[in-house]
Amino acid sequence: MLNDLKQQPADALLALIKLHNTDPRADKIDLGVGVYKTGEGETPVFAAIKAAEAKLVAEQDSKAYLGPEGDMGFVEKLMPYIFGKDSPDMGGRIEGMQTPGGTGSLRLALAMVKRAGYTRVIVGKPSWPNHNQICADLGLDVLEFNHAAADGGTDMEALRGALASAQTGDAILLHGCCHNPTGIDYTDAEWDEIALLIADSKVLPILDLAYQGLGLGMEEDAYGLRRVLVAVPEALICYSCDKNFGLYRDRVGALYAMVSDPADLARVMSNGHSLARANWSQPPDHGAAAVRLILEDEALTAQWLDELDQMRDRMRQVRAKLAAAGKTGGVDLTPVGGQNGLFSIIPFTPEQVQEMRSKHGIYFAASGRINVAGLTMGNIDQFIAAVADVTA
Ligand code: LMR
Repeated sequence: MLNDLKQQPADALLALIKLHNTDPRADKIDLGVGVYKTGEGETPVFAAIKAAEAKLVAEQDSKAYLGPEGDMGFVEKLMPYIFGKDSPDMGGRIEGMQTPGGTGSLRLALAMVKRAGYTRVIVGKPSWPNHNQICADLGLDVLEFNHAAADGGTDMEALRGALASAQTGDAILLHGCCHNPTGIDYTDAEWDEIALLIADSKVLPILDLAYQGLGLGMEEDAYGLRRVLVAVPEALICYSCDKNFGLYRDRVGALYAMVSDPADLARVMSNGHSLARANWSQPPDHGAAAVRLILEDEALTAQWLDELDQMRDRMRQVRAKLAAAGKTGGVDLTPVGGQNGLFSIIPFTPEQVQEMRSKHGIYFAASGRINVAGLTMGNIDQFIAAVADVTA
């Protein structure tokens, strides 16, 4: 029977890590999987995390189980950052639970949606490949709409059309900020409209906030999510700390549910708890505990926010330098300057993507998605020259 299993392709994004690692060239460049890198090309542990980890090792007196909801101190301390300081639980309507990374949160959210009787998820195209993959694995249908318009902005017409055609049993999955893979986010005015469209269409919004603070700022990056939440009765929010706390392999995330009547919250969340139990029982503790220790401590919080500011500033500098290159060979790098987060798509053909790898040792996704944080003032000219060469 096991012998009947078919070969599955390796995950294309994760496979890039190995491809890059095995390239012997000293001047190779990794613009693949979404991890932040410093101007020296490193992905160090945040100093605030190191300090919190030292405290954790010194102070933690037990590793006994916490339950499927994980570290609720962590879950609650994040809420003012996500939902705003004024009413972080929207008057008792929001509760969360810890999950293994943003993927764990999405897996639970989509499984809850399925259990609640939803059958279809409206997803932008392109999206992070794991969105569609989780829907497929759960047997949820996907209705795609075009995300990016020809003018470099978002394709609002396509989103309006998708929502106008929505049926009972539909949910919509939107990136809260730092759209992965395009870097093209909705403007605040567009979010204002989207919030009303979602409310009118009665689809369930699932908001994926995996990069808060890496776009325009912690508050700015939450604008769309907050705008949607005030317009609708119910929503699911998938959160990741893997990027904004640099905890990637520690898998730190949270799932929040917003319901219309606070009396329903415990019942709704009991579904998250039972699904977690059936999937991973309880989330890993270490990274979430470190985040909680940071958020419980004013000085550590200030240090973390300062480190996040530096990351964002560096990515802005890289984006500005790429944009300044303007027309490069057959492509225009200008739009990269106005995009947000770790990613942008350069319109390479599949052959050009291969040539960037084989001839220049520059690795990024087959979609043309580059991780801008992989560029430094030391290698960016090499990248621009390679783009000019393969697209000429
Ligand atoms: C990415 O898109 O590169 C990141 O979200 C990492 C991942 O798990 O795919």
